[in-house]
Amino acid sequence: MATKILLLGFLALTCSLASASDSSPLQDFCVADPNGPVKVNGFACKNAMAVQASDFSFGGLHITGNTSNPVGSRVTPVTVAQVAGLNTLGISLARIDYAPKGINPPHTHPRASEILTVVDGSLEVGFVTSNPDNRLIATVLQKGDVFVFPVGLIHFQRNVGKGSAIAIAALSSQNPGVITIANAVFGSKPDISTDILGKAFQVDNSVIAKLQAKF
Ligand SMILES: *[C@@H]1O[C@H](CO)[C@@H](O)[C@H](O)[C@H]1NC(C)=O
Repeated sequence: MATKILLLGFLALTCSLASASDSSPLQDFCVADPNGPVKVNGFACKNAMAVQASDFSFGGLHITGNTSNPVGSRVTPVTVAQVAGLNTLGISLARIDYAPKGINPPHTHPRASEILTVVDGSLEVGFVTSNPDNRLIATVLQKGDVFVFPVGLIHFQRNVGKGSAIAIAALSSQNPGVITIANAVFGSKPDISTDILGKAFQVDNSVIAKLQAKF
């Protein structure tokens, strides 16, 4: 009887834990060894004795990103690719610079939710809910304001202030991934068939060919 109650208690505990979040790392850290021969879901761990403070640090987030490009924005990422110590920890960061009228074009992070803070300037931000509603949830943020982009949803930012703007975004993955919609759809290598995109976007194939030439 006591065993049965214990078992039920154990089941209840494990079930509630399982539905609450992903499993946690089983060691203090697992600094990425990008050259490790073993491939796991992430990078293999560097020998813990060889780990240094530099494995956990990054310098340069004070530097303004170069926004001289067609969209007028620049993302400076701080993910496991820049900080090996982020491996397995499920967090990362980015600085985003915006020229006046610059945009961070519609994109999605397949593996992370994002919380963005405006450090300087003013941004219009928004995301679109999944099918069938495809509702646009958008607002304008001022310096000090925070906005959340839920995992997987298409989102964007636009500088609507007078000068340049700066944001810091935190993400719930050490490797959030980015899919920029226009680049993925019109700039795939090789191209998705013009005919497929013509039907999908309900336009003449020549419109698609024009878009594909741009990406
Ligand atoms: C910024 O990027 C543009 C376009 O790639 C380049 O021509 C320019 O030299 C860059 N500016 C700086 C300061 O690096």
